[in-house]
Amino acid sequence: MTICTIKTTPFSDQKPGTSGLRKSVPAFQQPHYLENFVQSIFDSLDGCEGATLVLGGDGRYYNREAIQIILKMAAANGIGCILVGCGGIFSTPAASCVIRQYNALGGIILSASHNPGGPNGDFGVKYNVSNGGPAPEKVTDAIYNRTKAITEYKILEAADINLDRPGSFKMGTMEVEVMDSVVPYVELMQTLFDFDKIKDLLSSGKFRMCMDSLHAVTGPYAHALFEKYLGAPVGTVQNGTPLEDFGGGHPDPNLVYAHDLVEVMFGDNAPDFGAASDGDGDRNMILGRNFFVTPSDSLAVLTANATLVPGYKDGLAGVARSMPTSEAPDRVAAKLGIDCYETPTGWKFFGNLLDAGKATLCGEESFGTGSNHIREKDGLWAVVFWLNILAVKGTSVEEIVRDHWQEYGRNFYSRHDYEEVPSDPANELMELLRSQLQNMPGKSYGNYEVAYSDDFSYTDPIDGSVSQKQGIRIGFTDGSRIIFRLSGTGTKGATLRLYVESYEPDASKHHVETQEALSPLIQLAEEIAHIKKFTGRDKPTVIT
Ligand code: G6P
Ligand code: ZN
Repeated sequence: MTICTIKTTPFSDQKPGTSGLRKSVPAFQQPHYLENFVQSIFDSLDGCEGATLVLGGDGRYYNREAIQIILKMAAANGIGCILVGCGGIFSTPAASCVIRQYNALGGIILSASHNPGGPNGDFGVKYNVSNGGPAPEKVTDAIYNRTKAITEYKILEAADINLDRPGSFKMGTMEVEVMDSVVPYVELMQTLFDFDKIKDLLSSGKFRMCMDSLHAVTGPYAHALFEKYLGAPVGTVQNGTPLEDFGGGHPDPNLVYAHDLVEVMFGDNAPDFGAASDGDGDRNMILGRNFFVTPSDSLAVLTANATLVPGYKDGLAGVARSMPTSEAPDRVAAKLGIDCYETPTGWKFFGNLLDAGKATLCGEESFGTGSNHIREKDGLWAVVFWLNILAVKGTSVEEIVRDHWQEYGRNFYSRHDYEEVPSDPANELMELLRSQLQNMPGKSYGNYEVAYSDDFSYTDPIDGSVSQKQGIRIGFTDGSRIIFRLSGTGTKGATLRLYVESYEPDASKHHVETQEALSPLIQLAEEIAHIKKFTGRDKPTVIT
């Protein structure tokens, strides 16, 4: 087998975003495009000679081809061993779990998360480091710098590996271990949750759940977890076979895209509990019968009830949330006497807090929740966590959340997305807001008085690194907030996100519909930012 050195020239658009390099499939299929990026990863790694890496993806279109290319490049670059998912499948949380378990140097995860797949859909490549978490900015910056200077890459001339059954193979001098990652993942869940108690609940015949894997990566994990180990009837998991195009759907677990599940959970004779996860399995949505739990409330509820679950029975070191996530978890943390950290959007910002033992649970408004068991957010983990709480409490999802609001007050919360708007006006909107920030504090808009306004900047408490321009926050004296941010994960034009939050301590007002409760703030956001003018849209594309 010969190692070929192929001449190449840089692509100018390989800067990793919030979560790796994400582009359309045709972009990745350009000659040398994937190879340049992968070689830049290898060139930026210290100690890749002889190292172990994890490789797999969410099963989307181009997953298998990309895996064969990366295996040959890894062999040519002196990697010692690659653990590759059977069928090319590795959910993001399972990859994080296996990187940690095998003390791997890192992992290459092929996914565009919740973006649609297929020949004209999206693809992505993300590098995770040895703690199992997304590469921090200093690593992604090094990779990006390398992509701008690359002149050649190495690839082994070799036959493809059969990915469809577990086994050990040799590729040049490199070991290739094709593994079924469902097993280590389920074993990790067993160390955290009370499987017996959950099994009693799910097999009692009195409690029904519905899990929607949206034809994406969690299918095999969810079938095993719920139907095999936790005693739920076969059929509990719907859309549980990963498809290359996710059945034509948008594998994002929210009220808009998980419509099959929403119909079931808000229909007649709805089950007691519903959940969905995204393309690569790190996001989750939690529903009760006719009831939606916001991701921010979900993090707050998990924090408040963590000691009911074996893995967290000794309490939490702290909790962390991204800046646009509602302040509901802060209220729980204050009561528990633990720290609540506010980080920029992106799971990578939780890594240092988790490694340093400062936070145990983390969460984001974008349907991500997780803990120190791995270094990624974990969709199925959140589902099993909820089941464990439900099994202990014996009440409904809605009762748990309403009781929670009663105790802590309710943070009404909603996100309005303006997807695929032209980039220039979206940037102008942000610039205009930025230019007004200094003069806002003390200013009144109707009943609202601005307490603070800034472009969020974060100094990592562990390594002191500073991340600036992470979103515009306007906070009011009554605890309400309006936040504007441009998405870092879109692949077409810009996506403007408006996050709106208000705090209501009075339980007699907790039943108000969310959009109604937030409507004065939504109007105020329009008044301040002229969203309609800049986006050319009179309403958001998605409201969650
Ligand atoms: C990915 C990241 C998350 C992040 C989300 C939203 O899913 O893993 O940590 O919250 O993207 O990013 P965006 O920049 O699109 O708002
Ligand atoms: Zn994801």
